[in-house]
Amino acid sequence: MLSNQAGDGKRSSLHGHWSSRMAFILAVTGSAVGLGNIWKFPYIAGQNGGGAFVLVYLACVIFIGMPVMMSEILIGRRGRRNPIATMTLLGKEEGSSGNWGWVGSMGVVAGILILSYYSVIAGWTLAYIVKSATGAFVGGTPAEVGAQFGGFVGDWRQVGLTHTIFMALTVFVVARGVERGLEQAVRFMVPALLVLMLVLLVYSINSGYFGQGVAFMFTPDFDKLTWNSVLAALGQAFFTLSIGMGAIMAYGAYLPEETSITGASAAVVSADTAIAILAGLAIFPLVFANGLEPGDGPGLVFNTLPLAFGQMSGGIFFSTIFFVLLSFAAWTSAIGLMEPAVAWLVEKHNRSRAQAAVIVGLLIWAIGFGSVLSFNVLADVKFLAGTIFDNVDYLTSNIMLPLGGLLIAVFAGWVMCRNSTSDELGTAGNVFKTWRLLARFVAPLGILFVLLNAVGLLDWIRSLAS
Ligand code: TRP
Repeated sequence: MLSNQAGDGKRSSLHGHWSSRMAFILAVTGSAVGLGNIWKFPYIAGQNGGGAFVLVYLACVIFIGMPVMMSEILIGRRGRRNPIATMTLLGKEEGSSGNWGWVGSMGVVAGILILSYYSVIAGWTLAYIVKSATGAFVGGTPAEVGAQFGGFVGDWRQVGLTHTIFMALTVFVVARGVERGLEQAVRFMVPALLVLMLVLLVYSINSGYFGQGVAFMFTPDFDKLTWNSVLAALGQAFFTLSIGMGAIMAYGAYLPEETSITGASAAVVSADTAIAILAGLAIFPLVFANGLEPGDGPGLVFNTLPLAFGQMSGGIFFSTIFFVLLSFAAWTSAIGLMEPAVAWLVEKHNRSRAQAAVIVGLLIWAIGFGSVLSFNVLADVKFLAGTIFDNVDYLTSNIMLPLGGLLIAVFAGWVMCRNSTSDELGTAGNVFKTWRLLARFVAPLGILFVLLNAVGLLDWIRSLAS
């Protein structure tokens, strides 16, 4: 075939390869660990009543997230191209059709839409670095810290400026390419973030409200759980693991042949889940200690953690470092969100990486103004799921990612033949059997069931039958 065919008959990637197994795990962890863990997980859990939501979320991560992640990596490594080209190629190769490329296309669009608002929130964290370093939170009361937040997001020029800075940083790294850009950005960030979360955890344990926070997070009250909350938990599992849109597929394309996909996935899923749970354990005690509302929405982290830092000795230092690390975490995720679109432009339209990154970046930056304005000028413009930001978030996390994940699982479980997948997963034993069971039945049916219930279709059918 073409020149991308390696001597052993396996394809190799056009963009080079990860320098080691560890580099791949770091990069995927860097994409997974981000605002989803520290900003989104606590506020979504808060809005959906805590305990029962967290339990459903964990179940989704283990029984749906894990097999879908493995499927994405194995598809990516087998195809060794951008997600659209890979799905088209493998679809034909496995005797199905080239139309599977549409799954990749939906992923490219999802990545663009997610990054459009992700960059806005990442901009908030950039602003909070400056606020922290200048001592804005020292000794702050809940009202003062809340006013800081309200004043900032209420001003579209400030939010627009930080969104612009963040997009520029992202385009810069993506333009530099896989080996030089992506790897270096992740190496120290995840361990450092973990350490800072532990510092916050110690503070939370001493806050006097730790028990109440733990109870909120882990005492399930299933009466509070609606099908929409279950869908939110499923969507959050996809969002936080970066799956369902081909990003992990794109990373898998650069994975050396001999690396264990199961081992790498398990490492990433554990690290990601641990950081989300730690964030919850740090934040909810502070919510209760300060008389705040767990269901307060996207401002939750920005209204709670600065209170803790404001009272801690060395708070200015810790607070600054924390928001620097959170910005880094967001940065390494943003890179992954852009990668599918950029890889596609490079391969399909023969652009240089730098050109492609700038084109995609400008598009995302412009769309992002819908979310910039959702917290100020257009805050009262509400339809369907809420503001423009709410709608972009709902459409991507709760619909596009689960749908993409469903199709990816079906592709790996049903379209690809058993030999192709066992070849990639490198094991014919119980691990492979379990993966295949989850990818063929549990994940697709689970996703379908939740989606149908959330739109009320099953209720409607039941009402027809009775
Ligand atoms: N997982 C990222 C986070 O938790 C967000 C994200 C969703 C993402 N999909 C992605 C990152 C794809 C990279 C690639 O913050």
